[in-house]
Formats: sequence, C-alpha cells, structure tokens
Amino acid sequence: MPPLDAGALRTYLRLLAYARPHWPMFLLGVLGMVLFAAVDTGFAVLVKMFLDGAFVERDPRMLLYVPAGIIVLFLVRGVGDYLSVYAPGWVGRQVIKSIRHDLFERYLQLPVTFFDRNGVAQLLSRLTYNIELVAEAATNAITFIIRDTLTVIGLLAYLLYLNWKLTLFALAVAPVIVGLIRLTSRLFRRYSMRIQASMGDVTRVAKESLESQRVIKVFNAEARQLDAFEAVNEHNRASYMKLITVKAVSNPVVQMIAALGLAAVMYVAIRDVLGAGLTVGEFTSFLAALLLVTAPLRRLVGMVGPLQQGIAAGQSVFEVLDQAVEDRGGDVPLARARGEIEYRGVSFTYDRDKGPVLSDISFTVAPGETVAIVGRSGSGKSTLVSLLPRFHDPDTGAVLIDGIDIRRYRLRELRNQLALVSQDVVLVDDTIRNNIAFSTPGADAAAVQHAAQAAHVLEFSDELPEGLETPVGERGTLLSGGQRQRVAIARAILKDAPIVILDEATSALDAESGHLVQTALGELLRERTTLVIAHRLSTVERADRILVMDEGRIVESGTHAALLAAGGVYAALHRMQFSV
Ligand SMILES: Nc1ncnc2c1ncn2[C@@H]1O[C@H](COP(=O)(O)OP(=O)(O)O)[C@@H](O)[C@H]1O
Ligand SMILES: [Mg+2]
Repeated sequence: MPPLDAGALRTYLRLLAYARPHWPMFLLGVLGMVLFAAVDTGFAVLVKMFLDGAFVERDPRMLLYVPAGIIVLFLVRGVGDYLSVYAPGWVGRQVIKSIRHDLFERYLQLPVTFFDRNGVAQLLSRLTYNIELVAEAATNAITFIIRDTLTVIGLLAYLLYLNWKLTLFALAVAPVIVGLIRLTSRLFRRYSMRIQASMGDVTRVAKESLESQRVIKVFNAEARQLDAFEAVNEHNRASYMKLITVKAVSNPVVQMIAALGLAAVMYVAIRDVLGAGLTVGEFTSFLAALLLVTAPLRRLVGMVGPLQQGIAAGQSVFEVLDQAVEDRGGDVPLARARGEIEYRGVSFTYDRDKGPVLSDISFTVAPGETVAIVGRSGSGKSTLVSLLPRFHDPDTGAVLIDGIDIRRYRLRELRNQLALVSQDVVLVDDTIRNNIAFSTPGADAAAVQHAAQAAHVLEFSDELPEGLETPVGERGTLLSGGQRQRVAIARAILKDAPIVILDEATSALDAESGHLVQTALGELLRERTTLVIAHRLSTVERADRILVMDEGRIVESGTHAALLAAGGVYAALHRMQFSV
C-alpha cells in the first residue's frame, strides 16, 4: 500500500493482529455489505420484471410477485444493513477491549522509573482516548480498503481491455494522486499525534484541577486554572482544525487531478473519434467505466484519515507495550525472611546532572530491630528505603536481606516480605474491609477483624452504620487523615510481613489520632524489622538506633541519648523542633 511507510505498515499489521481472532464476525460484516449491495441490483431486476410482466405481458401473477418481492428484498436488505453495522462494531469493540487490557496490564508491570518519566495524565488519555481511534482503522478501514482497491483494480483491467492506449493516458495522473495520498497521510498522522498529545494535556489540567479543587477554591485559583485549561483546549481545537482542513482540501484536489486526467483522455479520444479510430459505442463504454473508478477512488482517499489516526494511536499504545517490564528478580526463593537488612556501599543517582542522591551508604539492621532515619527533607531518606522493594536498584553496592543481594530473590517473594506505610496512603474506592484486605485477598473475616482491632480501626468503624462495610470514597476522602492511616496500618498488620517500612507515616496527624496511630504502630512493629522515617523526633526516640542523613550520606548514628550527647546534626535538629 503506497501511503504507508514500513514503520506505519508494521503498526497497522500489529493492530490487525488484534482483529484476526474475530475473523468469522468480520466475514459476517462483509456478507452484510454484500447483501445490502445485492438488493440494489435486485431492485433493478424487480422493476424490469414489473414493467415487462405488468405492462407488456399483463401477467396476473405480478399482483402477488411484485409486492412480495418488495417485502423480501427489504427483509434481506434489512438483515444486510444490520450485519454491516453490528459485525464491524462488534469486532471494533473487541479490538479496543483487548488493546486496552494489554495496555493496562503493561502499566501495572512497568518499573517505577517509567512513571518518573511519563505523566500520569498522558498515560490515562492513551488508555481512554487514543485507543478509541484504533477501532475504525482496524475494522471499517480494512473492509473499505480491500473492497475499493479490488474495485479499482477490476475497473482498470476492464479499461485496459477496452482501450489500453486511452487507459495509459488516464493512468498518467495516477502517480500524482498517489503522491497526494502520501502527503495527506503524513499530514494526517502528524496532526493526529498532536491531537492525541493535546488530549493528554486536556486530561492533565482537568485531572489536576478536579483533584485539587479544595486548594483551588481556597486560593481563588479558578481563573488561573481556567486559563490553563483554555490554552490546552484551544490547542486541541487548533490541531483538530488542521486535520479537518487536510480532510476538506484533499477530496477536491484529488477530484481536480482526476478531472485533468479525464480532460486529457477526452482530448485524445475525441481526436480519435474525429479521425474515425474509435466508435461511439467503444467511446461511451470506456467513458462509463472511467467514471465508475472515481467513486471507489474517492472513498479510498477518504479512508486515509481514520487509517492514519488509528496508526498514530496504535503507535502511542505500542510504544508503551514495548517498554521493558520490571525485572522479575533472580530465582532464589524466599518464603519468610528472618528480617536482617544490610546496605553495603550503596550509591544511587536519579539524574546525572544533579549528582548522587545516595552516596556510599552502609548499615545493618538486625532481625526485629527498629531503626529510625532522620534528616532534612531532600536528604534522601525516601530514596533510601525505596531501594528495599526495588523501586530503584543501586548504581553501586548492594542491598541485602538475610545476607543475600535482594536482586537475587524473586521480585514477588521479596515484596511479600515488606509492608510499607507511607504518607500518601493509597486507598481504593471500596469498603474499609476491602481496603484492609487489599494485599491479602484471601484473608478470612476473623483475620481482618483482628487487624482492624489492632490498628484501632474498629474504634471509628463501629460508630459507622455499616461498620467495616462502609465505603471509604475515592482515595479515601470520606475518612479523616488519622483514620486513613489506621486503615493503612491494619493493611500492613494483616499482611504480616517480617519487614516494615514507615515513611512519614504519622507526619500528617494531629496529636490525638497521632497517639492512636502510635499505639497501632506499636502492635505492627512488635517483633518485626522496622525502618522508620519520621519528621517528628518524638516518634523516633524509642527506636533502637537512629541514622541521621544529610545530602545522601549517613552522617551520624546511635541512640537518641547518645546522639543528643554528641551535640551534632541530630542535636541541632532536635533543638530546632523544640524551639517551635
Ligand atoms: N523520582 C525522582 N526523580 C528524580 N529525583 C528525585 C526523585 N525522587 C526524589 N528525587 C530527588 O532526590 C532527592 C532526595 O529525595 P527524597 O529521597 O525524597 O528525600 P527525603 O525523603 O529525605 O525528603 C531530592 O533532591 C529529590 O529532589
Ligand atoms: Mg521523603
């Protein structure tokens, strides 16, 4: 197919592969189109029968045949009509569903670094908007392209047979038309990509604004957000208009070029007729066939748009599908870790330009020990603990659990050893119970009840009419900050992992819920290896050991009392907190 370069063709074939399993339905759609078209021919036959039978032969049976014929023909036409809409629609929705499934599954498997580089809104808009554009290209376009290409080839063969010299004349414009189709294809794809990117921007601004509507209200930032939205909305419109312009211009231009070809042919043909080289009959049938070519040709040009939009969308999806998934780890099994953690000479850099975030970190945590990590914000505490679940891997050095480099464990089993409670508690829009059982789907009711009790969740859920069956709302908005934290702690207790990571788990709490969360945490941390990152030094005072971080290095370590006595960075941090 000339308007597709190799890459686009590959994308297109990959899209078609999604439709292939549904070929019987696809054929049914083609059958529907054939039936529909056949009825039109049937009508011509019926009219002839009627004229001949009723007027010429005065056949009384026509009284029955013609009305019955009309009903039968329309019945067949109706079935054809139904199939030609239903079947391609069915295939299209199946294709969209499968691609959407694959894309979502890939999103779940991609490494953390991918999400550092790609905005969530763009990824969302690929899942919702871009994918919708694929259906047309994978279903209708292919039907029309096959049908109309065959029609054009057939008619050309017939023309060649009728008069090859004239046909070659007419074909002189073909390269120009092909060139034009190529150009429109390229433009279509370019503008489609722009439109898709701008849909991502629309999604981004809308998502930010809807999620932060409280902040927007209190800062009276409505006008600012509206301006931001207007900009992306306008860009979306302008990109669309470019696409529409190409669509609007391409048809008349193709027609015009075809007309030039026709004019040339007419010139030659009439000269031949005048010179008696061509009979009127030959000329008329040639002209008729030539005019017949224009309709399928116009439809072919019309399919360029949806086809290219589908390909551009397909590319944006396949780009994600081709990203490497998270490393699944080695093959060392890990049923239940004892819980010894060691960081051995670990360095890590996010961004070469900004220098290392962790430099030569070494420390060991014994099973059951609680180690607190403190330091100014931006000193690398969260990055440090994010190496344990392998959100990132160290550039040099290694992180070990029970004496073995964690990269050698199977990733799933490694993560089974860890419970993480962080400041942003991810809650799904479901009941409190299902949020607690989030990571342990098979948990029985008694275990959930116990976890809920230990984490002081029952204290508030018992006062709700539906108890643990109360929905928490999207991102848990129906609960208070302290309640959300306690649900997250219950989830961690239920998971019963030997290693617990708390990343500022209590920093957003007021004193009272802070106290409840503290006692809940006491339950969670008993007999588990724990890394605690905390803002409030009061929550780390009870730790077995405290590591003080500064600019990606461990600058001090020891117990609360020892560090205070040493009068270094920790003592300074402590003084600062108690002076406010
Ligand atoms: N995903 C990321 N990509 C790039 N830089 C990051 C990322 N996360 C954190 N950083 C940078 O790494 C440094 C340490 O961040 P972080 O570990 O979150 O510190 P802390 O938890 O101590 O406040 C900061 O300078 C921060 O800007
Ligand atoms: Mg942090």
